[in-house]
Amino acid sequence: MVDGDSKSHESASEKLEAIADVVSKCRKCPLAETRTNTVPGEGSPTAEIMFVGEGPGRDEDLSGRPFVGRAGKFLDELIQSLPMRREDVYIANVVKCRPPGNRDPERAEVDHCSDYLRQQIEAIDPLVIVPLGRHALGWFNPSLRITASNGKIFRHEDRVLMPLLHPSAGLRNPSNAEMLREGIHNLREAILEGIRAKREAKAGVMANSIHESAPNAIETEAASNVLAEAPKADAREAPVGLFERAQTSEEVQAEMRKQRAIEEAAEAVESEDPKVVVDDRQASFF
Ligand code: URA
Ligand code: SF4
Repeated sequence: MVDGDSKSHESASEKLEAIADVVSKCRKCPLAETRTNTVPGEGSPTAEIMFVGEGPGRDEDLSGRPFVGRAGKFLDELIQSLPMRREDVYIANVVKCRPPGNRDPERAEVDHCSDYLRQQIEAIDPLVIVPLGRHALGWFNPSLRITASNGKIFRHEDRVLMPLLHPSAGLRNPSNAEMLREGIHNLREAILEGIRAKREAKAGVMANSIHESAPNAIETEAASNVLAEAPKADAREAPVGLFERAQTSEEVQAEMRKQRAIEEAAEAVESEDPKVVVDDRQASFF
């Protein structure tokens, strides 16, 4: 059998701890003056899904943990509806210290803090990143609009983005809450697209050839051509049945690990790695 978790838990978790340690001492921007605690992020070092918010609020500043206030409770509800557990994903923010009075972080603050998020993404290497709200989405691609992008699947480098409204928008207004509840359900499809994106990136396939054939690809600006809406028709070819069978959070996790292992095994077969047994791979796939 292809064995479970292909990502190294130890090395990712060491990297994340090292980042959190640097963040805890960081004074690169003025938010250091007013914070109570830094809020580096938390969750599984091998998460396939990473949620990214804007920055800590009051409850997060007091506890040092992301999304623990009212918006966080709503985020928990969304994650559980998949079903997944909060511990299965990773939750971070663009800025790691609270902007006073919950104002938006300033451009310079975001710029000073950006390396930490970049390093976290690199350490975790998730299949799917879910930017929460306009500011987080802007960090990844300023040309996308949050309302129009909610629950849509976009290729982003060797993974996918699936933006959602900020959970606090869902607390303010029931139609936003409905958009969030509907949007999060595209995550299973996003995971499958993420698996495909990884495989293509490893195989060195030019993702552009897919983007050009996308029937409803969003026109992106030249500067942001790393990103295009994933083609719907292509997504339908995915082995969706595998995810439909997963009913519990444990089964969803197991299914994702299996998919990831299959993807890595396929890559190893392509590179003629003798360690991989092709028949086993097929047996677990079909
Ligand atoms: N809002 C955010 O964007 N991040 C948090 O961690 C909490 C609230
Ligand atoms: Fe450092 Fe980021 Fe906190 Fe600014 S917000 S002090 S850059 S950790």
